Amino acid sequence: MSAAPPQSVLVRAHEVSKSFHSGAIDADALHDVSIEVRTGELALLMGPSGSGKTTLLYILSGLMRPTSGDVELCGVTITRHSDKVSAEVRRRHVGFIFQTYNLFPALSALDNVAEVSVMKGAPRHEAHARATDILTRVGLGDRLRHRPGELSGGQRQRVAIARALAGEPTLIVGDEPTGALDKNTGYAIVQLLRDQVSEARGVLLVTHDLRLRRFADRIIEIDDGRIVADSPVTQSGQALERDHA
Ligand SMILES: Nc1ncnc2c1ncn2[C@@H]1O[C@H](COP(=O)(O)OP(=O)(O)O)[C@@H](O)[C@H]1O
Ligand SMILES: [Mg+2]
Repeated sequence: MSAAPPQSVLVRAHEVSKSFHSGAIDADALHDVSIEVRTGELALLMGPSGSGKTTLLYILSGLMRPTSGDVELCGVTITRHSDKVSAEVRRRHVGFIFQTYNLFPALSALDNVAEVSVMKGAPRHEAHARATDILTRVGLGDRLRHRPGELSGGQRQRVAIARALAGEPTLIVGDEPTGALDKNTGYAIVQLLRDQVSEARGVLLVTHDLRLRRFADRIIEIDDGRIVADSPVTQSGQALERDHA
């Protein structure tokens, strides 16, 4: 048996803070958050509503800039670069599953997914073949020509997941990707995401669902904008207690 390949860091937040200013009100969403997600792992980010999960995912993926701190995404310190560079790194490396799906309403499920490969330069017939394969794997092989408005919430979520996979991302990020799915469909989807983990790839998912711990290599807990725990999960599914001081 060969040794496990060394893990490398896919994304690293270093002392990231974020404040939102609206009128006279300041909301401090993140305080000095430092985390890493590596290749070969599926990490879950858990925490109560309003604790900063979505804000952190957006910052890690280059969709939002922190107020202070640095983010290194796939080898590039995006916080030290322009929005254009940041967007390019994201487009090349990140598959983001939005909580609200963000599908193109006028396009079929097939075109929503195929568009990602087309934008990356694939010929249209290849993009369609690939999109058909991925949609079939998420259980939507019989919904290829449907538009988002003709699909249920759970089906739209699966199109969003298929779209995130279509770009062959290095890092897959999902904001409650099983939120609209029933238990069994949710498990199947997380298993599918789990299957994407490899020596070159990693997955970071926000979830409220404690039952998904069984799929995780690492559980990061956030509360009120602060990381309160970051622990590997043992084979028995128990998170090792290694709380931050
Ligand atoms: N665009 C925004 N403007 C102002 N406040 C925001 C904005 N986005 C998030 N917040 C605030 O930041 C905090 C964290 O929000 P969020 O990251 O959405 O939490 P979660 O995803 O864990 O529910 C909350 O207090 C929320 O109200
Ligand atoms: Mg959220």
